[in-house]
Formats: sequence, C-alpha cells, structure tokens
Amino acid sequence: MGGIFLAASSILVASYAHGPSAGMAEEWEAPAEATRIGNPVAANQRSITAGKAIYQGQCVACHGNMGKGNGPAAVALERRPSDLSMPMMREHSDGALFWKITNGRRPMPSFEKLLTDHERWQVVNYIRTLTVPPEGAVLRKESKETTATRHMH
Ligand code: HEC
Repeated sequence: MGGIFLAASSILVASYAHGPSAGMAEEWEAPAEATRIGNPVAANQRSITAGKAIYQGQCVACHGNMGKGNGPAAVALERRPSDLSMPMMREHSDGALFWKITNGRRPMPSFEKLLTDHERWQVVNYIRTLTVPPEGAVLRKESKETTATRHMH
C-alpha cells in the first residue's frame, strides 16, 4: 500500500517538475501575482537617474553598459546574462522585472537585501530606457517620416 502511494506521488512530483514549461527549461517566469504589482515609483528623470547609478554599481558587470548581457564578468558565468535591450523585454511588466531583481536566479544574485524596494523600482525604471523599440515600430516610424518628407516636396 505504502509502496503504491510512494510510486504515485513520485510520478506526481515528476510531472509537476516538468509542468507547463516542459521543454522550456530556459524560461524564467515571475509568478502571476508578482507580475500584477504596479510600479509605485514614477518613471521620471529623477528615478531614472537614481536607477542608472544603481545599475552602474550593481548590474553593469554582468549586463553591460547598454544592457546587452556582455558586461566584463559575463564571460565567467555559467549562464549568459539576459539582454535587457531586447524588444521582448517590453512584454514583461514592471512587477515581473522587480520580482526577478528581488529574487535573482543563479548566477544572478538576489537583490532583496542588497537594495531597498525603492531602489529596485528605480532600477526597473532605468532598465526600461535600455530597451530598444521593436523593429516593426521603428519601421513604421521611418515610413511615416518618409511620407511626411514626400508631402513636403
Ligand atoms: C552576476 C551577474 C549578474 C548581476 C550582477 C546581475 N544580473 Fe541580472 N541576470 C544575470 C543572468 C545570468 C540572468 C539570466 C538568468 C536566467 O535566465 O536564469 C539575469 C537576468 C536578469 C533579468 C531577467 C530578464 C528576463 O529576460 O526576464 C533582469 C530583469 C535582470 N537580470 C536585471 C538585473 C539588474 C537590474 C541587476 C542589478 C541590480 C542585475 N540583473 C544584476 C546576471 C546578473
């Protein structure tokens, strides 16, 4: 009886471990409740400047100056730091980024004790400025400008 129970529960554990992200071991998702938390710190010049200073001090070694994941320490890591300039970063809510910065995931450290909540929101505001707009948006903007120029002639 006990044996059957054990066998059944280990199957359960195994299927949980694979879970909904089977085959996507690389994914790192913040829990839904965390993604819904709004950023209490306005993304103004002041908080972005403060966030930049924090980034330069705590994050640049791995994520690099432009957030591309190519900081000087990146080569020594077992996992490449995320490219924070990628357009897909826009799909992550501020709450999701905050949660990742708070908790970390090896080799990225947890910043829960290293930075205050306020500082972590400030750095979220700063890393938003590193993200380049998706290519489509740039193209649309360019074609609009082209049309505008054409109209002027
Ligand atoms: C020791 C190197 C290191 C440091 C320092 C570091 N990171 Fe990371 N960071 C990583 C790595 C590696 C990953 C990818 C982790 C993974 O996918 O498992 C990552 C992932 C992230 C992500 C998740 C991006 C995504 O695609 O979901 C964010 C956001 C992030 N880092 C922000 C920061 C910020 C902000 C700081 C500074 C406060 C920082 N990191 C400091 C190495 C580092």
